[in-house]
Amino acid sequence: MNPTRTPAVIAATVTRLQHHFGDAPQVAVVLGSGWGGIATQLSAAQHLAYAELPAFAASQVQGHGSALRVGLAAGRRVALLCGRTHTYETGDCAAMAGAIRSLKAWGVQVLVLTNAAGGLRSHLPPGSLMLLADHINATQRSPLIGEGGNTRFVDMGAAYDPALRTHALQIAAQQQVPLVEGTYLWALGPQFETPAEVRMFAAWGADAVGMSTVPETIVARHCGLRVLGLSLITNMAAGLSAEVLTHAATLEQAHAAGADAAGFLTALVGSLPDTEPNLLSNK
Ligand code: HPA
Repeated sequence: MNPTRTPAVIAATVTRLQHHFGDAPQVAVVLGSGWGGIATQLSAAQHLAYAELPAFAASQVQGHGSALRVGLAAGRRVALLCGRTHTYETGDCAAMAGAIRSLKAWGVQVLVLTNAAGGLRSHLPPGSLMLLADHINATQRSPLIGEGGNTRFVDMGAAYDPALRTHALQIAAQQQVPLVEGTYLWALGPQFETPAEVRMFAAWGADAVGMSTVPETIVARHCGLRVLGLSLITNMAAGLSAEVLTHAATLEQAHAAGADAAGFLTALVGSLPDTEPNLLSNK
């Protein structure tokens, strides 16, 4: 087992979380590119660098920070993971497993995973928000390789929580935020896709392509967290527009659309307990 994810390291991380922040908030959010604005809207916030949390791996990617923030978003206490490690950084697709298992052991019940992605459909142009209804693990890598016991055979039939999805769509309608459901495909990266790959992914039924989220969903479902996933579409995927894809251009688009995305995310997080308390209870 990777030394950053042993039960002892996770227990030490939970002790540190408890000591610094007190009891766990019910909701945690992993902030992908473009989604960071919610962190600036947080009130009564405290933070801790990932370096202080032994089970949390720091991201080296430009545009991603490395700190956990806990505070109030629209009145609701939430933990924000500002920065995630991607599989393409080290080849380790379980790089986020220590952090996610620590959140669960601390007492978090719902994990919201956000990302930036390339759109594969004309109804998902840059700036759109997509709610993950399902995913395609095109890498066929699993963060559960090496896990023992029968719990590793995780049911992925409703990986993105149906009740939370319905709730997210209702809040989007109330806020007049266009939000469409779709299937997210995980490509390993870090290179962008070829146009031929994109045509194949579209034929498979994918609506957006990105380099994160799926391994986190698998770990979260394995440890019993309920998951909600949101993509901010920053570009049309390769070959679907004349644009040459660069990380800088995706970050720029993520920042341009980020205010709306963060506003919606804040409203969504803030709405969770008031509308239907049992949305936060674990099944
Ligand atoms: N492909 C993969 N990941 C991405 C993209 C893309 O087009 N845009 C943002 N993240």
